[in-house]
Amino acid sequence: MSQTLPIRVAAILASQAASAAIQHALLAPEFALTLIDSDHWRGVPAEALLVEVEDDLAVLRSICDEVTGTPIVVLLRAARADLAFAASKAGAKELITLPAGPDEIRQSLRGLLTAQPRTPERQGLPVLFGNHPRMSEIRDTISKVATTSATVLIRGESGVGKDIVARMIYEQSRRSGKPFVKVNCAAIPDDLLESELFGYEAGAFTGATRSKPGRFEMAHTGTLFLDEIGEMQPALQAKLLHVLQDGAFSRLGAKQDVAVDVRVLCATNKLLEQRVTEGLFREDLFYRINVVTVHIPPLRERRDEIGPLIRHFLDKYAAIYGREQAFFSQEAMAALLTYSWPGNIRELENLCKRFVIVGGETQILRELTSRNQHGPAAPVPAPPPPAASAVLLSEPAGRQPAGTNLLEVGKRAAWQAERRLILETLEAVRWNRKVAAQRLGISYRSLRSKIEQIDRDEAAKRHLIA
Ligand SMILES: Nc1ncnc2c1ncn2[C@@H]1O[C@H](COP(=O)(O)OP(=O)(O)O)[C@@H](O)[C@H]1O
Ligand SMILES: [Mg+2]
Repeated sequence: MSQTLPIRVAAILASQAASAAIQHALLAPEFALTLIDSDHWRGVPAEALLVEVEDDLAVLRSICDEVTGTPIVVLLRAARADLAFAASKAGAKELITLPAGPDEIRQSLRGLLTAQPRTPERQGLPVLFGNHPRMSEIRDTISKVATTSATVLIRGESGVGKDIVARMIYEQSRRSGKPFVKVNCAAIPDDLLESELFGYEAGAFTGATRSKPGRFEMAHTGTLFLDEIGEMQPALQAKLLHVLQDGAFSRLGAKQDVAVDVRVLCATNKLLEQRVTEGLFREDLFYRINVVTVHIPPLRERRDEIGPLIRHFLDKYAAIYGREQAFFSQEAMAALLTYSWPGNIRELENLCKRFVIVGGETQILRELTSRNQHGPAAPVPAPPPPAASAVLLSEPAGRQPAGTNLLEVGKRAAWQAERRLILETLEAVRWNRKVAAQRLGISYRSLRSKIEQIDRDEAAKRHLIA
């Protein structure tokens, strides 16, 4: 890791104890520490954000909800499993429990940043995009729209990577050095969203003692990411449409319009067309934001990314938590490759993280099986577009799996996915089987026997075709 630039850490600390510990640890030239209060964390440039959590997780949740690309570290004054669990669930990437020594504190921050390679610019999350045709299309669209100021609507189920895509568009755009402001329309109560977005003047309503700029103004010259846009109330949608068309709006209680130059990205996991039909979403706004659409397919429609993502997250969290490289057993891999992943990449990431921290493969598998059987039911899969249906079937079209028994079909699908991953990995490492086995997280012997199995399949196929 380059030591030339200090690591910028912003910290929101509530207690004297935390403040003393953090300042003692981070007042070294390797770090640049900024102490901020819980109302002013937005827009502070930092590569890691440290948040002390006492009893209430509200601040942490709102930070985790809005911040993308900067890892959030939670500081606890004493070991509290309930808080640790809730913080991790909210999205914290790392946990420091006091009394932690200065070395330990520094080490956890270094570990976190090594896991996400640093650039002198802003930090981005490491993104892994497979070679699935639909993902390549998305990559193309991103690079094409990034250079324009067009509004982009990013669609897809929860956890598929909509935030990541918004971030990528921003990072590849000319506005990359400018503010990136995210607003989660579902997380802010309806009656507050308007003032959050557009700001207010002093006296606009009871309690508005000072004027306050809204997120649109904060995003001036940059990008505003409106997440879960489908949740916005129709009255506010009208005001949003107005800004998008005229580049101007007025703060609550203001007489004059403010002009802004903001590129807007929107995301939704809702069927907006249906909301339009139901009168919940304005049709004119729908067309206005739907200039360019990026539709991210659910993970179950791009299964060949599951294997590489698992490897990616296991390595990432092993580095973050200073653990040995972790591997799933062969049986576990087969189950993970065929699981329906209703929570998409987020679910997969959390599972890998948990496995790195506490292990317990058997328990994880048991839970997956019961989730597969009893729900939460996988979202109704959209009819796969033609390109996606090729994922699992590397066999000639028309040859259906022999059995119609569910177990059989599952096993077969698992084997197809496994086989594809094995072949891709072997290609990637130029058939160095030892390295391939390591990457796949299986033993050399079991890789050999799988290659033999693939050979036998191929021979049988040739026999069938002949
Ligand atoms: N292509 C990817 N490579 C690496 N991590 C990803 C990728 N896509 C999503 N993730 C991770 O999965 C989680 C969910 O992604 P996110 O963009 O928040 O999904 P959404 O906004 O669609 O709910 C995040 O932690 C994100 O870092
Ligand atoms: Mg999101």
